[in-house]
Amino acid sequence: MNRFVRLVACLCLILAGVEVPVAGQNVKNLVPQPVEAKSLAGAFQLTAKTKIVVPAGNKDIREVADLFAAQLASLTGQKLEVVAGKTTQAIAFKLNNQASSRLANEGYSLTVTTQGITISANKPAGLFYGAQTLLQLIPPAKAKGSVAIACANVSDYPRFKWRGLMLDVSRHFFSKDEVKRFIDQMVKYKYNVFHWHLTDDNGWRVEIKSFPKLTSVGAWSVSRTGRYGSFEPEQSGEAATYGGFYTQDDIREIVKYAADRFVTIVPEVDVPAHSCAAIAAYPEMSCAGKQVKVSAGTNNGIGENVLCVGNENNFKMLDVIFGELASLFPGEYIHIGGDEANREFWKNCPKCQQRMKDENLKDLAQLQSYFTQRIGKILASKGKKLIGWDEILEGGIAPDATVMSWRGLDGAIAAAKAGHHAVMSPTSFCYLDYLQGEKNIERNSFGFLRAKRIYEFEPVPQGVDSSYILGGQGNVWCEFIPNFRRVEYMTWPRALVLSEILWSPKKNRSWDEFVPRMEAQFPRFDQAEVNYATSIYDPEIAMVKSADGDSRIVFTPEIKGLDIYYTFDCTFPDKFSAKYDGQPIKTPKGSSEIWAITYRDGKPVGRLLVITFDELKRR
Ligand code: ACM
Ligand code: ZN
Repeated sequence: MNRFVRLVACLCLILAGVEVPVAGQNVKNLVPQPVEAKSLAGAFQLTAKTKIVVPAGNKDIREVADLFAAQLASLTGQKLEVVAGKTTQAIAFKLNNQASSRLANEGYSLTVTTQGITISANKPAGLFYGAQTLLQLIPPAKAKGSVAIACANVSDYPRFKWRGLMLDVSRHFFSKDEVKRFIDQMVKYKYNVFHWHLTDDNGWRVEIKSFPKLTSVGAWSVSRTGRYGSFEPEQSGEAATYGGFYTQDDIREIVKYAADRFVTIVPEVDVPAHSCAAIAAYPEMSCAGKQVKVSAGTNNGIGENVLCVGNENNFKMLDVIFGELASLFPGEYIHIGGDEANREFWKNCPKCQQRMKDENLKDLAQLQSYFTQRIGKILASKGKKLIGWDEILEGGIAPDATVMSWRGLDGAIAAAKAGHHAVMSPTSFCYLDYLQGEKNIERNSFGFLRAKRIYEFEPVPQGVDSSYILGGQGNVWCEFIPNFRRVEYMTWPRALVLSEILWSPKKNRSWDEFVPRMEAQFPRFDQAEVNYATSIYDPEIAMVKSADGDSRIVFTPEIKGLDIYYTFDCTFPDKFSAKYDGQPIKTPKGSSEIWAITYRDGKPVGRLLVITFDELKRR
């Protein structure tokens, strides 16, 4: 059939009410890339009548299959029936009779033939990940008729066991539904750790029944809109109306929601610093004992935000707080923060100084180490392991502590050399709050991190025993992320890049080959109404000095195949404007700004970039 005949035939079938197959996706479009994936000839026709088949009497597999059915329904609009037993032309979930050591706890095999689809694994987690892969083989479109899923063989398992994303809910509070939505997206790309940054200077977000003021006071700040850090200070008598917290019932609900999707939650209560909200609730926790306000990002700075280490009552309180936390979160780890403590507060505190004398501590770093070790003992008494930011190495690391390395790779290297586990989360590759595209458009943040750079991340530093590196994690800090749409924008698509670093074999990495697979996810984001950044289509713009002393403008695209058009006369550029040929551009006399936009295949894909030369010179 030639193309015209096929089109006419399809139209006739539609008019006659006959269902038309929708073309599926190829295994070449998967993110993260599987260990092995082969396309085969033919396709399985998924219809409304296709059954999802599970073994009789296995509740765990049934739950995975039910979740898959729900995910599929939100993708295609078709809710398939889940049945126990055997049928043909079905999607079958099976546990291996004999465990495959290669697939371990999270691996799976996925086979698509013209006759049916089988996902097999050693454990339900593997079945779940196989189902996520299968979902990516199905087009994100409401399917009226049958959907063709191209035949394929996939065999897959993760490189790392800690594949995390962190969400900061202190700087801005995100609702229970938003947190669930965040987890929904994570699992599609096989993340399995949700690090929940629950406390900081801007709000305490977890109900602690024994200390109700932590949330009745500590969860609320004055309300400000605009640029974080530049807001006007609290007015006298101004009510603290901005914030929120999760009740213990909310927490249990989210813990279960995550666990059903094979995500472990690592809760963080950040101590001894970043504790302004706790101190606002219980001022006696600080050295000075003065009343402070929950920080709202005002321009008068943050009040005293460090806990007193000399005050024995603090350890009693923390025992209770971590006790309640331990009873809410079933995972093995609790994150105690430990970062960025301004130890100067301890210098002039008689109680802290007495503690140093009593414990024979030489410096303030050792005082923090003493604090961390005591918290480590508290956690151990609740059956939990301590993890903290890499500052917990300073002054001596607590026994059995795991280090989350954020100030580069050195924290993890030192931890591994000392026989401790580490999770890699360096700012240089993992800080998803950093801007990913042109600063003029994306505006406020602490740094800059393009998707392409993340693809260069190698979590195991040279010379380090890889068995100490549990994996890695992307961090979404939210000082400059005031709403959930922005959380999504900052997370995606960069978390796709990181998912591949953490799941896929290192040997297959190629940015140019990754880009189309990443772009294949964009219609999925559109369909799920997930906000994502299109920054990969915007080039970086820089001003350079040429040999003759003139200023020239240089564009650096992040991906191949883009055409960059620009103007110097303050008019909208389009494909009829001057096209960048890769050579530095001489700026015309009298011009003071450049406007630029990218096209691909004759269509605009980038956003309009307008930048003054003054700004380019400042960069
Ligand atoms: C951190 O970014 N302060 C861990
Ligand atoms: Zn003190």
